[in-house]
Amino acid sequence: MTQLPGLLTGTSQLLDEAIRKDFPILDRQVHDGKKLVYLDNAATSQKPRQVLDALSGYYEQYNANVHRGVHVLAEEATALYEGARDKVAAFINAPSRDEVIFTKNASESLNLVANMLGWADEPYRVDHETEIVITEMEHHSNIVPWQLLAQRTGAKLKWFGLTDDGRLDLSNIDEIITEKTKIVSFVLVSNILGTVNPVEAIVRRAQEVGALVCIDASQAAPHMPLDVQALQADFVAFTGHKMCGPTGIGVLWGRQELLEDLPPFLGGGEMIETVSMHSSTYAPAPHKFEAGTPPIAQAVGLGAAIDYLSAIGMDRILAHEHALTEYAVKRFAEVPGLRIIGPTTAEDRGAAISFTLGDIHPHDVGQVLDEQGIAVRVGHHCARPVCLRYGIPATTRASFYLYSTPTEIDALVDGLEHVRNFFG
Ligand code: ALA
Repeated sequence: MTQLPGLLTGTSQLLDEAIRKDFPILDRQVHDGKKLVYLDNAATSQKPRQVLDALSGYYEQYNANVHRGVHVLAEEATALYEGARDKVAAFINAPSRDEVIFTKNASESLNLVANMLGWADEPYRVDHETEIVITEMEHHSNIVPWQLLAQRTGAKLKWFGLTDDGRLDLSNIDEIITEKTKIVSFVLVSNILGTVNPVEAIVRRAQEVGALVCIDASQAAPHMPLDVQALQADFVAFTGHKMCGPTGIGVLWGRQELLEDLPPFLGGGEMIETVSMHSSTYAPAPHKFEAGTPPIAQAVGLGAAIDYLSAIGMDRILAHEHALTEYAVKRFAEVPGLRIIGPTTAEDRGAAISFTLGDIHPHDVGQVLDEQGIAVRVGHHCARPVCLRYGIPATTRASFYLYSTPTEIDALVDGLEHVRNFFG
């Protein structure tokens, strides 16, 4: 192991490894007694005991449907569900809890924005005379909804390209974002490249032309303080399961006046004010956008995850991951044939690192690592245009979280040596 002053010594930014005890799954062994080294956190995080207890506690003590009931369980379940909304609002510094919409995941949040704009009246309506702007580093969930909207409305879809070192190419920002742009939707931290994008420059240009801004914060919310007011966006989307919460819960934050003006997407129970056979009126936001029985237990679990992360402190989690990323980048430089796809330093990058290893196919890399108990992700990571841009079929991606350790990075580097030997 390479000793790095300040990283593995007393001045370390690293969190205490005792945190790992909160995550029962990290004690697992795989493949006949191999210690699990879980480095697939960008795909989903593991869950601490506190979240698991909140989920089982909800079902054991409080389970009922929300909002409509007069009995005690319905009132308690409603208080827990709406309490989770308060926790999310505080976590992202939302001006109002009514700006927090629960969805089932970030994809649904982004589809909701696209559909709001497709059905909206002026001045928000996206139509054949308008343009939608995204980037080449988006997850498919921030590409396909906009392609669908463009196909259905005749709007033009435009995007920012990428530089060779894995950053957004904003050199033509004034040609990409124009007076015709209605919405600019981009990722804050790339799930494949790890790049942290320059929000301010994009938001400033969007505001100049009166375009709305939507930010996919799926890989940011788990890893760094997230302040929707500081971002100055109009919508921010993220998911619960990557931030210690359960699957099946996502968030869309939107500015209140927009949520008041924009139309609902899904219709059904919970989202109405009154219904006749001829027409309906809608509940105020956020309920207007939450048709049907919502993900109640999942929201409670997300609330517990937010309590857990907040007690540790998002600044400390960010510092921990930054230190790990610096260490990983240095150690990866020692592996012959390893090419990082994305920024090669820890500056303005998150803790997901994609790479290729000579001409060994990433699926083979992933399989041989798995045999050693090391879980990484291989493929295009739902961001296929990035692979096309860099002329590669796929990458291997290691991604770290608050419970990841330098020892696990060492295990990965040793594992990659084994992969190289295996394939000669
Ligand atoms: N979006 C998840 C990932 O990047 C699944 O792996």
